Amino acid sequence: MTSTDNSSPPTASSGRFPAGRLAFAHRDLTGIGQLERHEILYLLDQAEQWVKLNRKSSKHTDLLSGLTIINAFFENSTRTLLSFEIAGKRLGADVVNMHAAQSSVKKGETLIDTAITLNAMRPDAIVIRHGSSGATQLIADKVDCPVLNAGDGSHEHPTQALLDALALRHALQLRGESAEDFTGLNVVICGDILHSRVARSNLLCLQALGASVRLCAPPALMPDGVEAIGAQPFTSFDAALAGADVVMMLRLQTERMAGQFIPSAREYHHLYGLTQERLSNAAPDALVMHPGPMNRGVEIDSEVADMLDRSIITQQVEMGVAIRMACLDVLTRSARGVEGWA
Ligand code: CP
Repeated sequence: MTSTDNSSPPTASSGRFPAGRLAFAHRDLTGIGQLERHEILYLLDQAEQWVKLNRKSSKHTDLLSGLTIINAFFENSTRTLLSFEIAGKRLGADVVNMHAAQSSVKKGETLIDTAITLNAMRPDAIVIRHGSSGATQLIADKVDCPVLNAGDGSHEHPTQALLDALALRHALQLRGESAEDFTGLNVVICGDILHSRVARSNLLCLQALGASVRLCAPPALMPDGVEAIGAQPFTSFDAALAGADVVMMLRLQTERMAGQFIPSAREYHHLYGLTQERLSNAAPDALVMHPGPMNRGVEIDSEVADMLDRSIITQQVEMGVAIRMACLDVLTRSARGVEGWA
């Protein structure tokens, strides 16, 4: 890790990033895979101002006043939906939530017809969560405004990876390890790698920022070919943990499983659950992360999840609001006519 001073977030004009639109040259945010390293760092740096605002008693700005944001969620969510809603409202936008269960999707309307319908209401940004990989891109291709992926099937969850990187940056800074990037950091991602959009987005994000990523899962839940994308695969959790700086736990995505992938939750916990004893295989001060929702007693024990000095799970949630504020700000700059972004 290299040192930097993040007390005042760098701006495009500081010379750290390309000027104007070139700092983030996309209309949509569909995946980390579309981003250059400097674009990831730009969003993280932009989020710092919102972390500060969110820690004040008065959290409102008028930056997006007059804009309409639609959160269209076709899958359940607590953290992502609420944090996008809070983010939009704190920026002064009008925010509308569409829950698929109460929408005309239930009457047979297709995804494309739903997208065309939302587009006709002239929103300034649409945030989509959908159970099918690629659904966000499909909608982005049909609408006139920026589209943000809030999780599509087992493909990507880009704002989760960004908020995880921001939480990690803050945790390292609190320890006096100000982190420009994550070079030299060994990160273990353990759980249902096969079905996890969080694993994919985090792998791409962490690697772009210089970390070494170890992926750990039972053989049936490990995708083929992870070595080809630079990750180290492990089926032994204890081996994966050896000397790790960060341990990111994932839940079993039973809603995406067709058939039986593990013998039982008890067996899974025995081999892949993060216990205090097992954590002792990692570096002495290793940080513990989990995107939520957690299944305590399955992939993680409460005594680990609630460790005040090691677990940054609640900090991940806090950073989620700031990251989503940064994404909504940056992606609407063109529509707002911000100088250099039109
Ligand atoms: N991490 C995450 O996406 O949580 P939700 O499903 O609650 O949004």
